Amino acid sequence: MAERIELTVNGQRVSETVETHELLLDFLRRHLGLTGTKEACSIGVCGLCTVWMDGRTVSACLLPAVFADGAEIYTVEGLAARQNQASAAATAPDPRLWEIVQESFVECEGLQCGICTPGQVMSALSLLSENPQPTEAEIRHHMAGNLCRCTGYQSIVRAVQRAAERWRAEHATV
Ligand code: FES
Ligand code: FES
Repeated sequence: MAERIELTVNGQRVSETVETHELLLDFLRRHLGLTGTKEACSIGVCGLCTVWMDGRTVSACLLPAVFADGAEIYTVEGLAARQNQASAAATAPDPRLWEIVQESFVECEGLQCGICTPGQVMSALSLLSENPQPTEAEIRHHMAGNLCRCTGYQSIVRAVQRAAERWRAEHATV
């Protein structure tokens, strides 16, 4: 059975017909060619497929695409689109924070093979959107759903700490 869905992906309105059993991950990768969102476990454990949906992160490998009808989705490719959007829904990620998170991952070498990095970036973005001053324990707890098989966790935690420092510095009142 197929159904028509309409949603916003990285700032673009999208209208497509999908099979009702089709997952959001396959919709993003196969229908829209957004291959930045990765797949490994397919059962909601590794965090590689983490995307931003209506202000929170979801595992795209668990969610039927029809459940995203009407939603606002951002994938790791969405930063440029978000920067160019004059206005976006209140639930959209802050483009400057997103930029800082990505730069901090590079600066702190929070990526090795890079396969887990899109999911790590989206999770870090959601953490810092809610809590700009996380403790190390809070960072480790929040990022626990994102597995890195290169075991680069120390650098990933440092990258999130660095992004938090920079974000707070930009918003410090003088
Ligand atoms: S591929 Fe979705 S959580 Fe692992
Ligand atoms: S950087 Fe390789 S899996 Fe995380």
